[in-house]
Amino acid sequence: MREIIFATHNKHKTAEIQQVINDKVKIISLDALGESKDIPETGDTLKENAQQKAAYIYEKYGKDCFADDTGLEVEALDNRPGVYSARYAGEKCSFDDNIDKLLEEMEGKTNRKARFRTVICLIEGGKEKYFEGECRGVITTERYGKKGFGYDPVFIPDGYGESFAEMSGEEKNKISHRGIATRKLINYLLGKDK
Ligand code: IMP
Repeated sequence: MREIIFATHNKHKTAEIQQVINDKVKIISLDALGESKDIPETGDTLKENAQQKAAYIYEKYGKDCFADDTGLEVEALDNRPGVYSARYAGEKCSFDDNIDKLLEEMEGKTNRKARFRTVICLIEGGKEKYFEGECRGVITTERYGKKGFGYDPVFIPDGYGESFAEMSGEEKNKISHRGIATRKLINYLLGKDK
């Protein structure tokens, strides 16, 4: 079976991606490699960050690998927090800190439209390839649900009556930014899109 490294320390992302990929490709985690160092992420775009993370691991291990970078773009906030979604409330902030800051900034705003965007960078035999996914929805005024991670409790995808954090992993994956980008990656790896 084809083996590939997923360059992330985020266990939620690993679980989501493994669920989409199923047993079609073997994903090697950074844990399995004994890699515990933080991966640099200093770009100004999702694409740059995904490339930086994938290249860091590719150069270190010399094996095909991919990385994703995701941002939440909120229309009423001029697409913030975007590429800075992880550090929105400051360095080393928690998911809860970020949500608190977002709800505060969105207080009184009637335009609640937002989208999640994921860019995956695959490095295969030294060559880079990119896969993207987006999911549009709205920002709620309070938290709903306990599943998922990050901004999931305050994001309701268009056409649904519940937040990502109220959905099962399977349901989220069907429509999510990361689910869409991952299925494109898998189709490519399995030769369907080559
Ligand atoms: P990164 O891709 O790890 O840099 O993630 C950027 C920020 O977006 C982090 O705060 C994540 O928690 C958050 N994030 C990434 N993917 C998701 C998602 O699927 N749902 C909710 N928040 C997410």
